[in-house]
Amino acid sequence: MQLLNGKEASEVIKKKLTVKTEVLQKQNFPVPHLAAILIGHNGPSETYVASKIKNCAEAGFQSSLIRFEESLSEEDLLQQIAVLNKSDNVDGILVQLPLPAHISEHKVINAISPEKDVDGFHPVNQGYLTQGSPVFIPATPYGIILMLEHYNISTKGKHAVIIGRSNIVGRPISILLSSNRPYGNATVTVCHSHTSNMKELTLQADIIVAALGKPGFITADMIKEGAVVIDVGITRVEDATAKKGFRIKGDVNFDEVASKTSWITPVPGGVGLMTIAALLTNTMNAYLMRNGLTEDIFSA
Ligand code: GUN
Repeated sequence: MQLLNGKEASEVIKKKLTVKTEVLQKQNFPVPHLAAILIGHNGPSETYVASKIKNCAEAGFQSSLIRFEESLSEEDLLQQIAVLNKSDNVDGILVQLPLPAHISEHKVINAISPEKDVDGFHPVNQGYLTQGSPVFIPATPYGIILMLEHYNISTKGKHAVIIGRSNIVGRPISILLSSNRPYGNATVTVCHSHTSNMKELTLQADIIVAALGKPGFITADMIKEGAVVIDVGITRVEDATAKKGFRIKGDVNFDEVASKTSWITPVPGGVGLMTIAALLTNTMNAYLMRNGLTEDIFSA
């Protein structure tokens, strides 16, 4: 068993982005700017957004955190998005999900300009992804692809079983892994809450992506010897012995599964860190596209 180390892989990607930002600064260009909107006081959302902002700073990016109380109206949120869409010095916009129940996620996602949609959630960007020419790939699936690339794990001709069909993870990673592209060309099975023969399918999998949000769901008896196991779960599980009163648990029972795998992601320290590296990569790409620049600028 070998560890797919998200810290190691994400640091390499972040370092490359930092060098690019330095090149931009030396040429007196502005740096990429990510604007994040956070509504209310959801614990995990606060943690994720704080991490996104911190990582922007580490890569030399500008960032803005725009916070609102839970009582914010949908209209006011749409108005704030319109301002950011128009702002010439904002390259990427993200609205942290989940939203309060009175705000339509659909309307909010659709309101973000596709050129600044660094989450890749807008229907235009989902359409490009489905067509096989993605512009912004959602951060978690993109992070998984970057992880496979970093460790040079081929997916071509492999059977990948995805557990979960969300718009944020399961659906887009199933499209990417089955597409005719690097780190694609796999045969993909998508499992979900109505799948009746889950174990039968996971036992056939060369690659498993677990993205269902049920701690410890994947057990050793569900895994083929030598499988690659990617755990997207990040559930807070109460634990009085932990400093914060909870521990982060993945969807995979790591302790019993790890020895059967060829590669496995830990939680924490796996996919979570890669999603941030992917978001920063999308923000750099949004910056380049909006400014009519290409990667050539970095080799000039
Ligand atoms: N909530 C959980 N994951 C994500 C994500 O990737 N982007 C946003 N905006 N919200 C999330």
